[in-house]
Amino acid sequence: MKEVFPGIFREGNKIYTENLVSGIRVYGEKLVNDKREWIVERSKLAAAILNGLKEMPIKEGSKILYLGASTGTTVSHVSDIIKLEGIVYAIEFAERVFRNLIDLTKQRKNIVAIMADARKPEEYAWVEECDAVYVDIADPQESEIAIRNAKEFLKEGGHLLVAIKSQSIDVTKPPAQVYKEESEKLKKAGFFVIQLIDLEPYEQKHAMIIARN
Ligand SMILES: C[S@@+](CC[C@H](N)C(=O)[O-])C[C@H]1O[C@@H](n2cnc3c(N)ncnc32)[C@H](O)[C@@H]1O
Repeated sequence: MKEVFPGIFREGNKIYTENLVSGIRVYGEKLVNDKREWIVERSKLAAAILNGLKEMPIKEGSKILYLGASTGTTVSHVSDIIKLEGIVYAIEFAERVFRNLIDLTKQRKNIVAIMADARKPEEYAWVEECDAVYVDIADPQESEIAIRNAKEFLKEGGHLLVAIKSQSIDVTKPPAQVYKEESEKLKKAGFFVIQLIDLEPYEQKHAMIIARN
């Protein structure tokens, strides 16, 4: 196994993180010694890594604002990477999945689950400034919501990671055009776009934009 970023390992087309909670699975993934498989079809961040992410903004000790946490699949790997010196503020508005997220916080002390609407950052205005804002809410206004949250919570020199679901934004346009237009929105708002990663074949018609302020 080769360490591709600190705390993230790759063997062929499989990636792994060091398990923060030894011997405990989160979503049915395989455990290999002290590591957990990061199932690439279940996480856009894992797909971005396999598809050539150049810079990993999420590191040991990072503070992360994560919008669209769902049951916590990707959040759990973020929790592995940042370790106990880091913290992930996980925002989710659907009650059904939020319960799983709460269960996850019982095992993992670096996750703060917040039931709130990412379109209303004033609901969680108490959250501190973060090293990265990660957005995966599949909303037609994905970039606008990402920008608003980054303006509120992102540190100077911090990173913004935005998952773009082309079909949620405009079904009539080719995905590549949607990705370009969303990148332009971030640039117009003053962000520097570092990379645009197409997530095929792991996620159909999805891309990840990595930017910094
Ligand atoms: C594509 S799923 C996220 C998957 C998750 N990021 C992962 O990789 O494990 C999108 C999630 O965003 C949540 N969501 C959508 N709009 C939201 C909003 N405005 N505020 C908070 N959560 C939202 C949905 O309820 C859903 O759980």
